[in-house]
Amino acid sequence: MHTEVCDRLGIEFPIFAFSHCRDVVAAVTSAGGFGVLGATGHSPHALEIDLAWIDEQVKGKPYGVDLLLPVNYDKTAPQHGKPVQSPASQQPQPADQAQTAAPGRRFPAGHQAFLDDLLTRYEVPELPGHLPASAGALSVSPQAASNLLDVAFGHPIRLVASALGPPPADLVRQAHDRGVVVAALVGTAEHARRQQAAGVDLIVAQGTEAGGHTGQISTMVLVPEVVRTVAPVPVLAAGGIVTGAQMAAAMALGAQGVWCGSVWLTTEEAETDPSVKKKMLAASSADTVRSRSLTGKPARMLRSAWTDEWESDQAPAALPMPLQTMLTASAQQRINRSAGAGGSGATELATYFVGQGVGLMDRIRPARQVVEQMVADYLAVAENFAAQLQV
Ligand SMILES: Cc1cc2nc3c(=O)[nH]c(=O)nc-3n(C[C@H](O)[C@H](O)[C@H](O)COP(=O)(O)O)c2cc1C
Repeated sequence: MHTEVCDRLGIEFPIFAFSHCRDVVAAVTSAGGFGVLGATGHSPHALEIDLAWIDEQVKGKPYGVDLLLPVNYDKTAPQHGKPVQSPASQQPQPADQAQTAAPGRRFPAGHQAFLDDLLTRYEVPELPGHLPASAGALSVSPQAASNLLDVAFGHPIRLVASALGPPPADLVRQAHDRGVVVAALVGTAEHARRQQAAGVDLIVAQGTEAGGHTGQISTMVLVPEVVRTVAPVPVLAAGGIVTGAQMAAAMALGAQGVWCGSVWLTTEEAETDPSVKKKMLAASSADTVRSRSLTGKPARMLRSAWTDEWESDQAPAALPMPLQTMLTASAQQRINRSAGAGGSGATELATYFVGQGVGLMDRIRPARQVVEQMVADYLAVAENFAAQLQV
């Protein structure tokens, strides 16, 4: 299981954990894997707090940070907190972490009316007066990314990842000056080629099975295609990977490790809404759908009444990113709150980003146990292969 990537990053197992939850990041790193904190939704202050906490927990073991770095990121650029239209992965974040909020923004009347009618039909109550409604803003301005990077570079991070287009030269230089590995998520071989040309050190080939924003090519096909395209740059496989047997398959395809997101959502440490966690544990691999309904871009999530309603003939087309997130953020907040309290309409609507691997996620476990089980299963498969060769 030891690959070149393990040596490069100083890890025992090439198992990468993308999570918005610092507890998951710390747990996976402590277990010998590599935790990556999804930080685009953090304010610089919140990121500082979380990274200081992780530093304390992991005691020098390596971890990384995932940011949405706009293609026009430039550390020396003047401030302009304008949201960019991001072409790739980004998830909606809590309102208190938003840096590009647009208070009082007006949405097309038809969109607002559709949403209001939906919430009424499913009997989702208003938020109590004391709770501020989520603005659902995405922190993707060049200045916001630059501020977050400054905070991240103040900590002993070993990797910075981005899911947008190729990273700007300035970022690659800054990272390399500090010995920080630059990683990038891709959904096609062409994207991988562009990332390689920009000087990225580690490519994450993410197949359509993945939770969150995702393309249309399966992990099984994408990984060997990307490995062949960018050799000798190391590649991690992502999308649908939940077990050690799948990890063994990914390594057989030429990957040097796996990058997982969904599997951590049902761990003990994850802050996933309990009602959504319950749905995930019960879901099969057929229960996800690529939908634009949360962000405006196709993202894989649990299929629910929410995604079905947005597919219906009455539904308006989703707004472009980041407007769809802003439009739906407070509705999502109401739904999750009500579902958590047992509201039946809200429970029908509740959804969250998750990949097809959800069909293999059937119990709540500590993140450390997920890592250990993956390693054990991987070894069992490897031994099985070796035994077959000896016959
Ligand atoms: C809830 C969730 C949120 C995600 N948010 C981001 C993100 O903000 N940035 C990013 O680069 N990738 C994001 N991803 C994608 C992961 O980094 C990873 O590539 C993906 O989860 C791998 O596929 P899997 O979900 O089948 O494990 C997200 C995935 C999930 C499940």
